[in-house]
This record gives sequence, C-alpha cells and structure tokens, in this order.
Amino acid sequence: MSRRRFLKNLSLAGAGLAINPLKSAAQPLNPDPSIKDNPLVISTWIHGMEANAGAWSVLESGGDALDAVQKGVAVTENDLNNRSVGLGGRPDRDGHVTLDACIMDHDSRCGSVAFLEDIIHPIDVARAVMEKTPHVMLVGEGAQKWALENGFSKATFEVPVPPVQKDYEEWLIKSEYKTGVNVENHDTIGMLALDASGRMAGACTTSGMAYKIRGRVGDSPIIGAGLFIDGDVGGATATGVGEAMIRTAGCASVVESMRRGASPEEACYDIVQRILKKHPGVNGMQVGFLAMNMQGEYGGYSVYNGFNYALRTKDRNEMVDAKYMRTWE
Ligand code: GLY
Repeated sequence: MSRRRFLKNLSLAGAGLAINPLKSAAQPLNPDPSIKDNPLVISTWIHGMEANAGAWSVLESGGDALDAVQKGVAVTENDLNNRSVGLGGRPDRDGHVTLDACIMDHDSRCGSVAFLEDIIHPIDVARAVMEKTPHVMLVGEGAQKWALENGFSKATFEVPVPPVQKDYEEWLIKSEYKTGVNVENHDTIGMLALDASGRMAGACTTSGMAYKIRGRVGDSPIIGAGLFIDGDVGGATATGVGEAMIRTAGCASVVESMRRGASPEEACYDIVQRILKKHPGVNGMQVGFLAMNMQGEYGGYSVYNGFNYALRTKDRNEMVDAKYMRTWE
C-alpha cells in the first residue's frame, strides 16, 4: 500500500469515528490530483477571480509569487463593495472596521498586521513589516502608527462606507451576533501562488467577522492559522470561522500533512476532520481550506458545501467547487 493511500485510509477511518454518518455528506477524494502546471494561482471564493487576474499579471511575465499574491489580494481590498475584505467590510459591534492580513513566502519570510484601522491595503503593510522590521506581526494602534510613519496614509473616505453604516445601524436594533460563513456571506480572501521559477507565496486578508467584539482577531493574520508556507513542502490558506483555525493551527497542520505524504486535497480533508472532532456537536460553522504543494498540485476541502475557489493557470481561469463534509440543512 502506498504511503499516500495508507494516509488516506487512516483519515477515512478517523472520519468514521469523528462524524455522525447520518449528517455527513463527505465527498470522496481525487485519487490523482491535478498535475504540475506552474505558474498558477488559487484563491478563495468568487472574489478570487478578479484577485487572480491581478496576480496573473505578475505571474505571466515571469514575476515573483510574492509580488503576485500581494498585487492579487490588493484587488479585493480595493473593492469597496466587498463586505468581508478591506475598508468596504463590515464593522465590529462598536462600529469600527478593523483589518487583518498576512503574507508569507517559500523562504519562511512573513509579515502580518491585525486590528488595523483606516488603511486601504493592510497586505502592503504586512509586506512592509516583513521587509522593514525585525518582527512578524504588528497590531492595532501601534501597527497604524508604524504604517503612517512608513509611507502609508489614512483613507480619505468615510469608513464604514455609507451602505455598511446603514446595515450596522439596523443591526444595532437587535445586536445579534452570528458567526455563520457561507457563499452569500463569504469572508477572507486567501491566495496561494507558484511562479514560473517554482517560488511559492501566499497572502490572506479580511475585515473579519461582521459585528465581532471590538479587539477580536481571527485566523487571517496569524501565520500557521490562516496562512502557512514551507518551501520544502507547499502552502495552505483558510477561510471561515477563524477561531477554529487558530485552535488547530489549521494551515500549519495542512502543510505538515503534506510533508508526511498527503496530497493537498487530502491534507485539507484531514484538517476539516480534526476541526470537526475538536468541535463536537457544533453546527453551522463553515471552515474551508486551500492547499498547494511545490509540484503545483492543489486542492481544497470545507466543512459545508458552498465553498469554492478561483483557479488561474495558462489554460484555465475558472471557479472550482471544493469538496465538503456536510450540506447546509
Ligand atoms: N476567517 C476570517 C476570520 O475569522 O476573521
């Protein structure tokens, strides 16, 4: 039995123990995932199509994966109609839009910002933290102060943007907090790219959960939770309820599964299993993972149906439905 097959059987056996079979709609894994086709880029949700186009403009001319992912997710941050990424996002329960982002490359260089306000492109600040400081992560007021001292400016438009402010005022009437994430209420953009020279990088950026407690930070800026890259193995990024990714070091776990021989899709499946096992009885918690190895194989898996990702290669430019464990009831 091959190592990969052994690992797959192990995962499926574990799944039987962890999941109520009556509720499970687990889909079978691909025996042979996609083969090397670099450069390529994948990113979460439908907003990934435009983001991939931004990344592709770098990748198709032989550019660096790190530049590609930064440029790619910046497209989504720039879209003030996006309600879960950038300054067009929904605020916390006190009415402030707070942004989280991180970036990482195959040499384990990484930078991150969290709880950042009023800066249009947190991903650019994350990269600057990586390149200009001896640190990995800056947060809140300190992150904003550092950004302003290092060439970034505050947005000059109203934040929250007017339609978001209107929704927020309506939300305040009942002040109900729901952490549901599905295709209508999608969140984070996470992106992974492999360039023509075989370098990998990833980026992840979000405004986080709508109406969260002020100060809450999700997985997206946390290296190992919302994003992880290891140049010997590959990378992973995540979307959904960030607390679940933090509890399980989600993306680092995906990369470690690939290191032990799992395909990207199998590795995403494994972490979804583990998350469900760690949250017994929890319903309605969407979590989705994307992974790519250094050979350019890629895949995704989510708890619930509805999670999809954008794929761009020289021949393909399309949405792919991720496989899933459960269907929404
Ligand atoms: N996945 C984004 C968040 O939980 O903030």
